[in-house]
Amino acid sequence: MKPALFFLLGAALLVNSQSLNSTSAILNASATATSSPLLAASTTPAANPVYPVPTAFSPPFYPAPDTRGEGAWKAATAKARARISTWTLEQKVNITTGVGWQNGSCIGNIASQPELGFDGLCLQDSPLGVRRSDFVSVFPAGVNAAATFDRGLIRARGLAMAEEFKGKGIHVALGPMMNPYRAVQAGRNWEGFGGDPYLQGEAAYETIKGMQTPGKGVQAVAKHYIANEQERNRTESSSNVNDRTLHEVYLAPFLRSIQADVASVMCSYNQINGSWGCQNSALLNGVLKTELGFQGYVMSDWQAHESGVGGALAGLDMSMPGDIIFKSNTSYWGYNLTESVRNGSVPESRVDDMATRILAGYYLLEQEQDWSEVNFKSWDLQLDPLFNKHVNVQADHYKLIREMGAASVVLLKNDNNALPLKPSLRDVSLIGNGACPPWKGPNGWNNRAGADGNLVIGWGSGTAQLPYLIPPLEAIQQRARKNATTVIWTCDNWDNTTIATAATGPEAALVFISSNSGEDNAVVDGNYGDRKNISAWLNGDYVVESVASRNKNTIVIINSVGPILMPWIDHPNITAIVWAGLPGQESGNALLDVLYGDYNPSGRLPYTIAKNQEDYPVPYINFQTTLEPAHPQINYTEELLVDYRWFHANNITPLFPFGFGLSYTAFEYSDLEIVEATVSKRHLVEEGLHKRANTTEVGSSVAEWLHETRWSVEFDVTNTGSVNGCDVPLMFVTFPEAAGEPPRVLRGFERINLDPGATTRVSLPLSIYSLSIWDVVSQRWVKPEGEFKIVIAKHADDTQLESTL
Ligand code: NOJ
Repeated sequence: MKPALFFLLGAALLVNSQSLNSTSAILNASATATSSPLLAASTTPAANPVYPVPTAFSPPFYPAPDTRGEGAWKAATAKARARISTWTLEQKVNITTGVGWQNGSCIGNIASQPELGFDGLCLQDSPLGVRRSDFVSVFPAGVNAAATFDRGLIRARGLAMAEEFKGKGIHVALGPMMNPYRAVQAGRNWEGFGGDPYLQGEAAYETIKGMQTPGKGVQAVAKHYIANEQERNRTESSSNVNDRTLHEVYLAPFLRSIQADVASVMCSYNQINGSWGCQNSALLNGVLKTELGFQGYVMSDWQAHESGVGGALAGLDMSMPGDIIFKSNTSYWGYNLTESVRNGSVPESRVDDMATRILAGYYLLEQEQDWSEVNFKSWDLQLDPLFNKHVNVQADHYKLIREMGAASVVLLKNDNNALPLKPSLRDVSLIGNGACPPWKGPNGWNNRAGADGNLVIGWGSGTAQLPYLIPPLEAIQQRARKNATTVIWTCDNWDNTTIATAATGPEAALVFISSNSGEDNAVVDGNYGDRKNISAWLNGDYVVESVASRNKNTIVIINSVGPILMPWIDHPNITAIVWAGLPGQESGNALLDVLYGDYNPSGRLPYTIAKNQEDYPVPYINFQTTLEPAHPQINYTEELLVDYRWFHANNITPLFPFGFGLSYTAFEYSDLEIVEATVSKRHLVEEGLHKRANTTEVGSSVAEWLHETRWSVEFDVTNTGSVNGCDVPLMFVTFPEAAGEPPRVLRGFERINLDPGATTRVSLPLSIYSLSIWDVVSQRWVKPEGEFKIVIAKHADDTQLESTL
């Protein structure tokens, strides 16, 4: 088809979709007109729950907008444009298409073009460290980064990881991952930043800012765009989510990523409202490149590229790993993209824009200057001395890993000052295989898909090769020698006799339990990526109860990918419960720092822990096993009510609320005041124009006026206890009732350190965006009229101070 003809067709489709809902082309089906049967259906469960009929609809949005080259992207885009102006069509296409699975050193590879002086691109997992390489560090997982609620630490983690990627010659690090905890069983939840869109957004922003630190960083990739919240059937299913929910919940971290100038966005395997993530024009051309004004490039997840012409026109810029099916030697792009341009199916200007966006990312991170060659090979780590230079990129990152591990520990219960442990402790037992080294070594299971030993990361492409692993059992030995404490242990969760003996007598009994999950490409004990249930693994509950029945000072330590059930919660002998998450290589050291009081715990739960699995908004994953129909429909019927919002709206008391976490000291809040900020005239004018405009302006959702501070919420925090410690006050907003928002939503937090008796004034910003809803009719952020309640709290179910606005 000739380009002109295509555009006519695109326009016709556009007109068609507009006539259906008479608002905007970006409009995502369900949220608007109830008059159209096509549009109304997307979140309505289908009549037949076993084989639902796909009814969701994602409207067309064409053509793909060209990058503008503005703001931070100006110089890089100009350079990229100038550079490709002399390239042939083939040369431009070459930079858009990977060389095929395992055809280069990295997980993804863009070929070098020596005649152009271009060395190619190396793309490598993962969001917590360099995957498939050696002499690298394994950082705490995303969920632990989130649990620190510490922007500075999260940024430092991003930078440290990026330094390691750069040291290996990698250009593009495939993270951070920011799909929120929607379904409690979802296998990759731990790679992301918890259950709240605001927290996800802040953590994504800081991670990317750290990773893309000028002169030191690499390109970051915000993934997986979008609504990719379970592993089961991820390459077949359609996530059906209405426009408002999409904007307010799932888009939030991507919006913040774009504000952090993320170089790339990875589109996901799944369909969204019936259209594949990597060729969903409404979401790529529309939401991402128009509304959010994204100026980097969209890469496909590995084999998520679904069609040649369709993907190109819908806004995809890079095909990864380049072949249609791994090692098939076929591609939707490469030669076929060149042909599509030649036969008029894809305008050459679209390929120009793809190449410009990709090169702009490269220039944004100054990767043309002194970039070291890729010095490792992903595929045969030990066998290929030719490629593996075994470059040590770890620096002293273990210090940050240990600090962050400690900062992310959440103290859930601490009766009778069971913690911190006294150095004078006579004897202590460590019980459960979670205290111990994995029996096959830290990397004995391929992609860490194993079940035993101290759990420090989940499994799948979100992992890295552990350089070493310090389990709690090892970390405690040095302290035991210094303190003359006797250590007793057993690592066998099924040896009841030894467990009983170890539990009986010691002054404290530490019980370690875990729950693991990962990507769908490995099955561990019947868990296909997603967890089959949320109970502790490996007989964990039995071990806890057995120990608690014998020891009056039973302390439970949890290494898990997400919430677990705690059927033993009311046992009077359980004095303390500690959530340690997935802390990476320094696991034992970080934990012991907290248990012995060298580090005062300040981690906060980044998700709600429910009493029962049924209490969650999405308690069970759609585990449809037959692909009949071919595309399982996952309806996001809980809409805005994710995580704590669901519990509030339905009056469900959780076991531990979102944001909960104890300390060895105490904090008090006082003197709340809301101060109006001065607003620049230009921003007021822009705000006015925005309200009157009747089209969605490019970049309107990231406009400065929308995000600048309009109010400062100020209050005092005092450390009223007896030791130094960090606190994390949270700010929740309750919207005017007519806005239809959840009862309260998180809109601010700050982690502060205070000596005993000290007070500091905390100031949390609010913008128009913080107080807006996504208006599906006008397709813009709108601050509802009426009174807002501002609450300062210790966790989602708490109120310390409140005021109105
Ligand atoms: C598929 C995963 O979904 C993605 O996160 C990862 O980056 C790629 N595989 C490459 O390993």
